Amino acid sequence: MADAFVEGLLPWFDTHGRHDLPWQHPRSPYRVWLSEIMLQQTQVATVIPYFLKFLQVFPTLPDLAAASNDAVMAQWAGLGYYARARNLHAAAKRCVEQHGGDLPRDVDALHALPGIGRSTAGAILSQAWNDRFAILDGNVKRVMSRYHGIEGFPGLPAVEKVLWALAQTHVEAVPAGRLADYTQAQMDLGATVCTRAKPACVICPLQQDCVARREGRSDQLPTPKPTRTLPEREAVALLLRDAQGRVLLQKRPDTGIWAQLWTLPQADSGSALQDWFDVHVRGSLEDAEELPVLQHTFSHYRLHLQILARRVEGLRADDPAMRWVADHELPALGLPAPIRKLLESGSIPPAPAARRKLRAAAPLKNIE
Ligand code: ADE
Ligand code: SF4
Repeated sequence: MADAFVEGLLPWFDTHGRHDLPWQHPRSPYRVWLSEIMLQQTQVATVIPYFLKFLQVFPTLPDLAAASNDAVMAQWAGLGYYARARNLHAAAKRCVEQHGGDLPRDVDALHALPGIGRSTAGAILSQAWNDRFAILDGNVKRVMSRYHGIEGFPGLPAVEKVLWALAQTHVEAVPAGRLADYTQAQMDLGATVCTRAKPACVICPLQQDCVARREGRSDQLPTPKPTRTLPEREAVALLLRDAQGRVLLQKRPDTGIWAQLWTLPQADSGSALQDWFDVHVRGSLEDAEELPVLQHTFSHYRLHLQILARRVEGLRADDPAMRWVADHELPALGLPAPIRKLLESGSIPPAPAARRKLRAAAPLKNIE
């Protein structure tokens, strides 16, 4: 069946697409999977060195499954969105336990693994095996909504359903043996021609049949996300340094925000932080220095983190979830991006010079 979308895209890919990406040679399921997870929130140029290094350290899926959590997080350090690394590791273990050490080729079994959504499952199966599965990542949502003139924010389930149906229709028309190329072609078109801002319609292989192009609406599609105001939350964190200038980091629990990352000891209020300090260090936080409030936006709230800095002699007892970290050790640990920025900025005074009062009498409010 003739499909102008597929027939425009594949020849364009042959001459203008990317054919030299490291996960294309060879295209093993493990390599394709790893690349897709790394590429979920990160650009190709950033991913490539991480991808190559990761494969040197963990050449096979069973190698990854057998690694420690810290070893995996260390290889991921700097890529961000660390839930991806945790899910990757958990999925590798499950593949060893349940699928003989390989990624399953069955779409439902693949989709059931941590970190693999429907689009990623399609991207893996089509690229690794040339199996006939559609994808619908951010790039493809943008291209599809423009090409077909689909209104509505693509993150809405009703809109997404329409886009999936269109993606499925097109993938049915792809010639056998070209499914991997078709998947890559859509990503390449979205990344290089049908870009978010100022799509290059004049050189686009789909321009003749594109609704957005015909109606001059490519700057209005896809419909942007409806704006909403995020709830605000406040918390207090402690930047403790010992006599050698090392900073105290605490490993976050396995769930919740910043799960399994190393960060500053933190509490929801000044008094709760003082309680923590009483148990682990002793003394008063009255003479700690207040650093500028750090802001970080999570998907469901905005965090204002008050940071108190202080020099201490040491901890009262060892705790496996806490360690003193020298500056040169920071790059090898998984840290939340804003905390890494703070610690690596070098702008933190080594000792509390100005002594300002901790607002102990006014516990910080915690708006859910
Ligand atoms: N984003 C997700 N998968 C990709 C791929 N295979 N190539 C380029 N960008 C991508
Ligand atoms: Fe995107 Fe323009 Fe091509 Fe339509 S013609 S798919 S808007 S680049």
